Order: sequence, then structure tokens, then C-alpha cells
Amino acid sequence: MERLQKVIAHAGIASRRKAEELIQEGKVKVNGKVVKELGIKVTPSDRVEVEGIQIEREEPVYFVFYKPRGVISSVNDEKGRRVVTDYFEFIKERIYPVGRLDYDTSGLLLLTNDGEFANELMHPRSGVEKVYVVKTKGIPSREKLKELDRGIRLEDGKTAPARTKMLSMDKKKDSSIIEITIREGRNRQVRRMFEAIGHQVVKLKRERYGTLNLGGLKPGEIRELTPHEVKQLRTLAMKHQ
Ligand code: URA
Repeated sequence: MERLQKVIAHAGIASRRKAEELIQEGKVKVNGKVVKELGIKVTPSDRVEVEGIQIEREEPVYFVFYKPRGVISSVNDEKGRRVVTDYFEFIKERIYPVGRLDYDTSGLLLLTNDGEFANELMHPRSGVEKVYVVKTKGIPSREKLKELDRGIRLEDGKTAPARTKMLSMDKKKDSSIIEITIREGRNRQVRRMFEAIGHQVVKLKRERYGTLNLGGLKPGEIRELTPHEVKQLRTLAMKHQ
């Protein structure tokens, strides 16, 4: 038995508070009847509708996936390119990625069917740390990297402070490998940050997402999160809200 507002929030339709409002406004039906009280609990076999649409109720599942390059972070692609959920055909739940990695970016991607969990993590204020390893064209100076650490002006505003670390440089090939930690998740953010200091990103991989890292996964491999890992991530996201 679960509280009705929790079931609605889990389906990713609304936050728990918004779900309570929907209930009080008479927009929620259980087994065909409008329910306006907040206290009620429902079983998995109860049919819940929000504004006339029945919500899917599945057991929540959580996976870490090592996304290879050349795969879209989506559940389908109109051009028929490979998408991340192609790797999950063995599971029956309808999962989707928490945020995105670019087509050419590899690395850690979280997938779940728990909408509330995904919304908490993706909320701009959640501030979950993401660690990327970047291969750049050219070798940025220490001063340039400091600009990224302080925050740099992009067309959609100044970025929040980041942490950069030069891991290695190859003077002959004129390239370097840099680790960067950011807390935001804007579109193509890492690529745009490096472009802003005059260095193109030629390879990009996400190594860590909050408390999770890739461990021993290889590109295309999947691991299910433990309940403890789910709790750790949720705590992390809630801390900043
Ligand atoms: N930043 C980017 O530029 N691309 C990604 O895929 C992730 C972060």
C-alpha cells in the first residue's frame, strides 16, 4: 500500500506537493471515482487516473549504463539511429535516461522508470557533481583552466564554479587530457565551456555521476543499482533543494 500522492509523484507526473494539489482539486480518480482526501493509500491493483489519463505503475528499477559513443540518449530516434534503450530490450519496464549525454559522448548514464527520482536529480538546484574526462585540441594554459573554475560566460549565462585538473598533455600531438567536475547540466555544457577558452573537445567521457562511477563497466554494459546506491543518490539530490 502506498500513499496516493507518492504513486503520482513516482510516475513522474508531478512533485509530491503538486500531486497533493491535483488530488485536492478533484483531478485524480481511483478505480473510476474522484478522490479528494490526501490520506488514502492504494494497492498496485488500484487503477489511478490523473486528469483522465491512467498512470503506469511499475516497480521502480535503476540502472547504470556505460553509453558508447554514437548512441542517442533517448528512447527512440526518428532517424532510426541507435538509442540507449536498445541495450535494455531484456527488461519489461519502460525506462528512460536521467538527463542526456551527447551522441558523441561516452560514459555513465543513469536510467530508471522512477520519475520522481529522475526529476529530483535533474532539478537545477540538485547540484549533483558530474565528472568528465576531456581530450582537447591544443593545450589550455593554467590561466584558461582557472577561467573555467571561476565560471565562464556562455550564451545562456555564466556557468557555476567548476573544478579542472590537467591529467596529461601531449606536446607532439598538441592535445591534453583534462578532468572537469561540474554541478550543472546544460546542453553541451562541457564542450561549450572549452570552446569558450578556445579549445575544441575531441573526446568526452563522463566518469562519475554523484556517488556513482563506472566501476568495471565496459562500453555497452549495464549494472543495476543497489537499494543503498539509490538512497545515496536521492539524499545527495535532496540536500540541495
Ligand atoms: N557536456 C557536454 O558537452 N556533452 C555531454 O554529453 C555532457 C556534458
